[in-house]
Amino acid sequence: MALTKLKDMNLKNIKDKICDIAIEVGDYVKEECNKFNKNDIEVKSKNSLVSYVDKMAEEKIVVVLENLLPEAGFIAEEGTSDKKGEYYNWIIDPLDGTTNFMYGIPIYSISIALKYNNEIIIGVVYEPNNKECFSAFKNGGAFLNNKPIKVSNISKISDSLFATGFPYYDYKKLNSYLEILKWLMYNSRGIRRIGSAAVDLCYVACGRYEGFYEYSLNAWDVAAGALLVKEAGGAVTDFKGENNFIFGREIVASNNCITKEFQYKIFNSYIAIESN
Ligand code: IPD
Ligand code: CA
Ligand code: CA
Repeated sequence: MALTKLKDMNLKNIKDKICDIAIEVGDYVKEECNKFNKNDIEVKSKNSLVSYVDKMAEEKIVVVLENLLPEAGFIAEEGTSDKKGEYYNWIIDPLDGTTNFMYGIPIYSISIALKYNNEIIIGVVYEPNNKECFSAFKNGGAFLNNKPIKVSNISKISDSLFATGFPYYDYKKLNSYLEILKWLMYNSRGIRRIGSAAVDLCYVACGRYEGFYEYSLNAWDVAAGALLVKEAGGAVTDFKGENNFIFGREIVASNNCITKEFQYKIFNSYIAIESN
């Protein structure tokens, strides 16, 4: 029976194979970036952009993964496959940071996660311009180019660097979002908006950022990076401090030392403003 296939392979081996795929596809994306013309931009919906590169990258990933684990389904941004797996599903963003890519800004990534039932068990994010491959598997730790990584041990918000993504089509939670942004401007070392949520999460995992928050993200933006943060010793929740952060479209990730204070601020701003 097909399911035994995954049990027979160990998770680390599969993770390593996914790193190879992500690196190969990442190099293709990087190559295309040099030739990309803004006339090739297609608009899916307000500020949601796509191109032949996103679609081709996804097709390349799906073909290989279909072979690797035939019983798995796909939740992939560009909809290359609508196959649903009973137990296993790949969650794929073939190009996270599409707007950066299209405007020639060299921060974008390939993000691939494997979900077993409701749990993410493998996560890989590859940033081709930095040649950085972030990877993790359930209970196996988190890695950057095969070296173990950990979240930072900074315990004061005033010594912490944060990341976020600016809302660009869904403004429903804008007031609480801005309230948190303002609080961070006054109280932290600063805030970055680099344009790839998958990379933001990996930067929390390897200790570059102390925290990250954003809303309106999809499962393919966060599934791999969230596992990285957890396996690197960090904490990930939704804005209510609960676990609905893969499909719940709200995420807060942090290094565990500042988690309580950061979550408390987010939770309170969210409740105070959104419930008015
Ligand atoms: C986007 C990036 C960005 C985030 C957006 C996402 P895409 O993904 O992760 O950082 O702010 O909300 O949609 O569209 O480049 O795959
Ligand atoms: Ca994305
Ligand atoms: Ca994308």
